[in-house]
Amino acid sequence: MKTSYFLILVLAVALVVLGVKCLDGNRQASTGGTDTITMNNDFYSGILTRASVRKYTSQEVTPGQVDSLLKAAMSAPTAVNKQPWQFVVVNERALLDSIASKFPNIHMAASAPLAVVVCGDLSLALEGEGEAYWIQDCSAATENMLLAAHSMGLGAVWCGIYPIADRVKALSDMLSLPENIIPLCVVPIGYPEGEVHPKDKFTSGKVHYNKF
Ligand SMILES: Cc1cc2nc3c(=O)[nH]c(=O)nc-3n(C[C@H](O)[C@H](O)[C@H](O)COP(=O)(O)O)c2cc1C
Repeated sequence: MKTSYFLILVLAVALVVLGVKCLDGNRQASTGGTDTITMNNDFYSGILTRASVRKYTSQEVTPGQVDSLLKAAMSAPTAVNKQPWQFVVVNERALLDSIASKFPNIHMAASAPLAVVVCGDLSLALEGEGEAYWIQDCSAATENMLLAAHSMGLGAVWCGIYPIADRVKALSDMLSLPENIIPLCVVPIGYPEGEVHPKDKFTSGKVHYNKF
């Protein structure tokens, strides 16, 4: 008799614990509270710990890694799903060095094993007023690539080309880009040399609810 009471008690406690857990799970899912973030902790902390990397070791980036980076880039959202982009992978040492010496803002290409040039393809872009969405589309692709690089233990930095006309012209000439292809940025990529220090940029004063 005593044993069965004990078993019923254990069962009842287990049911109560299970019930509380279920309720808590539902609350987190519906409120989207900070506990929800814990479920995707690696992904979220990857976003917070990314930083521009401008010094690289001599370790090569493999073709498989390059494919993964480009897959991440092309997973970005685009206006009307136009995907108006093209990517030029630069992995020839001489070309990386001439990019580094021609563009002071991309000096780090001299130590990078490779760089990806993210380009807008105007022949794939929306027409009319929406054409300029290519800039946002390619920016989203670039950020995806930076985050993917970070997730793979690589370091990268976004180096601006467009809208600086001189840079657009010089890089287009260097890479023989057709007229409809506009280079947005160059992203040198490699294994980080030394420590990487992400910045904490969260500024509550820049957040506004409902009106400025
Ligand atoms: C549109 C854009 C253009 C940039 N151009 C350059 C550049 O030409 N050279 C460079 O070293 N970094 C460049 N950066 C990287 C920024 O300097 C860097 O993101 C910023 O200092 C914040 O540092 P973090 O990336 O480590 O958070 C650029 C970033 C963006 C978004």
